[in-house]
Amino acid sequence: MHTVPKVLCSSEAASISTATVTAQRVNGIGLLGCGTVGSSVARRLLELHPELVRGIAVRDPHKPRAVAWDDFDGDPFEVVDDPAVRVVVECIGGVGLARELVLRAIARGKDVVTANKDLIATEGPWLAAFAARTGATLRYEAAVGGAIPIVRALAGSLGSEDVLEIGGVLNGTTNFVLDAMDAGADYDEALAQAQQLGFAESDPRADVDGHDAAHKLAILAGLAFRQPSTSGGVLRHGIAALGAADVRAGAERGWRLKLLAIAKRSGEAIEAGVTPAYVPLAHPFAQPRGAGNVVRVVGRGCGALTFAGAGAGGDATASAVVADIVAALAGSEPHVAAHAGADLVTQPLRARVLVRFDGGSVVTPEPVPLDQLEATARVYGVHGAVRAVIPVWSDAA
Ligand SMILES: NC(=O)c1ccc[n+]([C@@H]2O[C@H](COP(=O)([O-])OP(=O)(O)OC[C@H]3O[C@@H](n4cnc5c(N)ncnc54)[C@H](OP(=O)(O)O)[C@@H]3O)[C@@H](O)[C@H]2O)c1
Repeated sequence: MHTVPKVLCSSEAASISTATVTAQRVNGIGLLGCGTVGSSVARRLLELHPELVRGIAVRDPHKPRAVAWDDFDGDPFEVVDDPAVRVVVECIGGVGLARELVLRAIARGKDVVTANKDLIATEGPWLAAFAARTGATLRYEAAVGGAIPIVRALAGSLGSEDVLEIGGVLNGTTNFVLDAMDAGADYDEALAQAQQLGFAESDPRADVDGHDAAHKLAILAGLAFRQPSTSGGVLRHGIAALGAADVRAGAERGWRLKLLAIAKRSGEAIEAGVTPAYVPLAHPFAQPRGAGNVVRVVGRGCGALTFAGAGAGGDATASAVVADIVAALAGSEPHVAAHAGADLVTQPLRARVLVRFDGGSVVTPEPVPLDQLEATARVYGVHGAVRAVIPVWSDAA
């Protein structure tokens, strides 16, 4: 039996005064990792509640860092095991060491705050169930949308909403690349530019192949549809095969190319997928520029709600992490009841597609499932060699 992740997140912090937190001085914080996110978290914590920071673990304690802390620890397990540490903040990333550390913290009944979407999207449901057994909590507002408070919104304010659709532009790196292509760069130039400016990793596959967006979508879908959800079953197409001709073909029709990650109700089923798609310029999904993100929730009662902002970056992500820490320190109860039941199973997202072939192009009259794009290319191949088959996003489809 699974339960959906037990979620507490940033905006709970709004109701918690600094006095409440400082009154609980026995509650120490242990920070694991002090890189892009961890160093912003450390600076903010040392500004807000220096007396609560008990340890900061890094791989290389001797590396110079812009953080006013002079006792970096090379052993993250030591920080987790410190009896003075009650809130363990995991900012290392990945599913190896970070997973072991999170498991250890949960086993010891400690509260865990993490920005690690890879871990939450693959193992979040059972980690939350484990936490429920040990009295620990698991908070991960920063794992989706950086500073955008979407996890808390879905778990709290929208906790009773009948969500029909959730998703949008969830990956800043690919948005930056597509934006640069929109401005005239080809794919390789755009990616190199993103890498130079620190918006893309030297190994960009997690972003450009759509893994990161799929992880975030799985987390959102689990919260929106209140079922345990992992990213393994989310169908995914990345942006690496796109070229300047694809961008131009959209621009000629008043569309902008975006990497969309969307899960939606379709009768009894949930359709989900990550795909490059053309979006009409006036649509909310066409709006984020650079590394921006947009998440839209469509509910039967609430209608369409759009959340937009900085989806990544040290300070933006730390804003959500620190608020989760404050909520953990205040010991507030989880907003989300544990849901028992089967994992969310999704079908491939469907959308009409633009098929470009030598001598012409056509938008299919009916939506095509994302796993049928090659078959669609074969059908239209009778008209001429097919150059591209790219979904066209329309809310009506
Ligand atoms: N970057 C973003 O904008 C962003 C946005 C949202 C979520 N996130 C998530 O936040 C997490 C952290 O990302 P990041 O960009 O901050 O990563 P990062 O810059 O690579 O930092 C990783 C940190 O982990 C430390 N570390 C690595 N191995 C360690 C070990 N064996 N023992 C102790 N510490 C170790 C590193 O230590 P050294 O400094 O000594 O190398 C470094 O401080 C990831 O889960 C990521 O997905 C990031």
